[in-house]
Amino acid sequence: MNTPVSDFLCSYAQSGMLRMHMPGHKGVQNDSILSEIFRYDITEITGAGNLFENEGIIAESEKNASVLFGTEATFYSAQGSTLCIQTMLALMKRENRNVIAVRNVHRAFLSACTLLDIEPQWIFPEYSDTVVSGKINLNEAEKIISSTENACLYVTSPDYLGAVADIRSLADICHRYGAVLLVDNAHGALLPFYEENRHPVHLGADLCCDSAHKMLPALTGAAYLHVGNPRYTSSVKDAMLLFASTSPSYLITCSLDLCNRYIETQIREKLRNSVKWMKELREAVSEKYCIEYPAFDREPLHFTVNAEKSGTTGEFLAEKLRENGIEYEYADSIYTVMLFSPEDRHEAYLKAAEVLNSIEFEAEYRETEKLHFPVPERKMSVRSAALSAFEEIPVSESAGRICANINVPCPPAVPVAVSGELISPELSLLMKKYGIEKVRVVAGRYL
Ligand SMILES: Cc1ncc(COP(=O)(O)O)c(C=O)c1O
Repeated sequence: MNTPVSDFLCSYAQSGMLRMHMPGHKGVQNDSILSEIFRYDITEITGAGNLFENEGIIAESEKNASVLFGTEATFYSAQGSTLCIQTMLALMKRENRNVIAVRNVHRAFLSACTLLDIEPQWIFPEYSDTVVSGKINLNEAEKIISSTENACLYVTSPDYLGAVADIRSLADICHRYGAVLLVDNAHGALLPFYEENRHPVHLGADLCCDSAHKMLPALTGAAYLHVGNPRYTSSVKDAMLLFASTSPSYLITCSLDLCNRYIETQIREKLRNSVKWMKELREAVSEKYCIEYPAFDREPLHFTVNAEKSGTTGEFLAEKLRENGIEYEYADSIYTVMLFSPEDRHEAYLKAAEVLNSIEFEAEYRETEKLHFPVPERKMSVRSAALSAFEEIPVSESAGRICANINVPCPPAVPVAVSGELISPELSLLMKKYGIEKVRVVAGRYL
């Protein structure tokens, strides 16, 4: 498979052309740690194409990605899945669709709703013990979709714990009622390349985004917007331009271009090993740790420990991992998540097993509390609350106030209360449980 973007950047770096154009570093090697890559960091010069045009070397590279992922079309983003989510929702706005979303959304979804003035209708998943993850009740989804005119369903799968939703059934339901299925597959770029293809587009999603940078050897910010429904192919780039920088990074784009060759030549073999080593790791720690969580299916390289059911806390494990030279992806009081990729060698799995088994704690088993999510009452639109003047106050004083722009930490950036919702005493307790100490509320409005 060719790599037109990478080839162009290499030949320009070697050409000796005098760079009378941006960027200001001029490709000069100096004593900065970035000096080696400055040579390849260019702007839209002659021959370099443009991320938002349908021809040229970037469009050619995107076509290669589309073949590899098995999509109708694939588009690159140099601004993560965040830009892809904005784009997908802009396309829905153009069709005047009513957006139904499963509640464990990433904050990027809510920012897009703010920008586009979208008022989502929520499906609350069946939570077990965390707001980050939950199972979607298909009957409930069908009931809402069938009774909503011109609907679209937005699902986050895999979620931050690696739980995967039943996308095939959700796609069938959506299409039965003329609805569109959008999937935030930010954590699932590897899903087409395991033994069985479980990529959302393969299973029927109309549009979906993958953060290449989360699971593939790509630079931070690299993402794909995949099209499953050809109706959207010709309008994606135009919609993306509404939000995108006019100077998308060529380095990020190049890393997506290079992923194509990696996917074609290496990924399947590497994933076979990863899956084998992950199985070994799970077996090696299974006596000491609970590594189960409720899910229809799971993304194989999210290694999620239920610390609470193992007799400790997610934060304690995370701290011990770090003391032993392992930085984790995410931890809260219940879960610790370690993220593997096909680039991790066998030694990484062995070390993880060794460190986890060496962590000493007196197991104290607390009763796992089933999460009760108090369905919030909406008082203002997402957009007007998120754009209102706000006060930042302690969560303990927030009951009776309206949530303004949300400011939840990433990871996992899954909000408890959403802009415009009334913070009830139960909701404020839930926020406290998630370690949220301050909350932004609409200034001057008390209920
Ligand atoms: C579920 C989910 N969706 C979307 C995003 C945003 O992705 P990106 O950082 O690629 O913009 C994230 C980021 O962590 C995420 O976890």
